[in-house]
Amino acid sequence: MSDTKTLLEEKDIPKAWYNIIPDLPVPLPPVMHPGTKKPIGPDDLSPIFPMALIGQEVSQERYIEIPEEVREVYKLWRPTPLYRAHRLEKALDTPAHIYYKYEGVSPAGSHKPNTAVAQAYYNKAQGVKRIATETGAGQWGSAMAFACRTFGLECKVYMVKVSYQQKPYRRSMMETWGASVVASPSMDTHAGQGILAHHPDSPGSLGIAISEAVEDAATHEDTKYSLGSVLNHVLLHQTVIGQECQAQFEKLGGYPDIVIGCVGGGSSFAGIAFPFIKDKLAGKNIRFIAVEPEAAPSITRGQYTYDFGDTAELTPLIKMYTLGHSFVPPAIHAGGLRYHGMSPLISLLCNEGIMEARAVHQNPVFEAAVLFARTEGIVPAPEPAHAIRVTIDEALKCRETGEAKTILFNLCGHGYFDMAAYDAYFAGKLEDYAYPQREVEAALKGLPKM
Ligand SMILES: Cc1ncc(COP(=O)(O)O)c(C=O)c1O
Repeated sequence: MSDTKTLLEEKDIPKAWYNIIPDLPVPLPPVMHPGTKKPIGPDDLSPIFPMALIGQEVSQERYIEIPEEVREVYKLWRPTPLYRAHRLEKALDTPAHIYYKYEGVSPAGSHKPNTAVAQAYYNKAQGVKRIATETGAGQWGSAMAFACRTFGLECKVYMVKVSYQQKPYRRSMMETWGASVVASPSMDTHAGQGILAHHPDSPGSLGIAISEAVEDAATHEDTKYSLGSVLNHVLLHQTVIGQECQAQFEKLGGYPDIVIGCVGGGSSFAGIAFPFIKDKLAGKNIRFIAVEPEAAPSITRGQYTYDFGDTAELTPLIKMYTLGHSFVPPAIHAGGLRYHGMSPLISLLCNEGIMEARAVHQNPVFEAAVLFARTEGIVPAPEPAHAIRVTIDEALKCRETGEAKTILFNLCGHGYFDMAAYDAYFAGKLEDYAYPQREVEAALKGLPKM
C-alpha cells in the first residue's frame, strides 16, 4: 500500500460504464414536461440530444459497453494514476492513508473529456454537424472543444461571463481546438438578450449559459446540445474513474473507508463514487462525502423538489436539490461549482442517506489547495480543492482519534488556468460568501408548481 503511484495499462481501461439506476434503493423520479407536468418521452428530447444518449439516460442496463472508438481516444490519457499522498500525510502528521485519483492528465486538464468524447462520438454517429454547450470554469468547454475536434464537429461554447473574464486562456485553449466562444449572457440568443436587457452587468451563471446553449441547439437544424454534468448519461460516462480506482486498490491490496469529491452538478463525484456505492449497497461499510461551496449550497441548503435545469425555463423539470433556478451565485473562483441544482442521481442518494454533503468557504479551500501544492506538487483546480479541504479535515480527525483510515478523493482537475484565483487568495481578496437565507427563500418562491 506504500507505492506513491499506482498505474494500470491501456488494456485495463474499463470496457463498460457502470449504470447505477438499476441498483438504486428507490426508483428515480421521472423527468417532467414543464407544460403538461407529465413524464417526458424520447421525442421531447430528440431535438436537442442524439437518440443513443437519450437511451442511456433512461437505461436499466447495469453495464453499458464503451464503443471501441471512444476507448481509443481514452487511451490518450487513461488509465489515470492513483497517487498516495505521502507528503501531505506527513505535513498533517496523520495516521490516515490519503489517496487521490488524478484526472488532470487529460488533454483538457480534468475529468470532463470522459463524457465529452463519448457525447461527441454519439452525435457524430447520428450525423450531427455542430454542438452547442455552456461552460462554467472553462474545463467543460475545453473538453467539448477537444472532443469535437477529435470527431470533426463544430463547437460553440457559451462561457459564463465571470469565468470568461477570470480565465482568458481557457478561451484561447478552446479556440486552439477550433471552437467559437462567447461570453454569456450574450446577444447571440433570445435568452441572453432578455437577461442583458434587465441585468446589463450580469456576471452570468451556469443556469443562464445552459439556456443559451439549449436555445442555440433547438433553433439550428444541424446542432445538438451537450451538457457537461447533472444528467444520468453524463454521470454514467464518468464511472471509468471509480472502476479504475477499484482495480488500483485491488492491485494495492486495500480499500477506501471514505470517498470524497467536490460537486457542481455531480459528475466527477459520481464518477469516482458510484462503483463504490454499488459495493455499499451490497453491504460494504464505506462513507461518501460530497463537498459544495457555501456560496452555492444546493444540497446543504436547497430543497429536494422539481425545478428547471436552467434560468430561462427551457429545460424539462427534474427532481433535485435546488436553490431555485433564478439563483445567480456570487462570483467565487470555483466556476464549475456555481450551479443552482444538483444531479438527480446524487440528490436521490443524499436524500436516502447513502451519502453525505458538506459546504465549505473558499478561503479555507484555497488554504488546503496551497498546502496540497506545497506538499504533493500539483496545483489543484479550485473545484477539487473543495474535496482537498474536507480530506484534510477528515485526516486531522484521524490524528485526534489515532485511526488509520484510508481516504480517497477525486483530484478531478489541475488549476494551471486558475492562477488568477490563487493571486486573489494570496492578496487577501477572496471573500467567504455564505448565500443569504432570504435570497435562497426568494429564489425558492419561483419553483414551478407541481
Ligand atoms: C475541475 C472541475 N471539477 C468539478 C467540476 C464540477 O462539475 P461536476 O460536479 O459535474 O464534476 C467542474 C465543472 O466545471 C470542473 O471544471
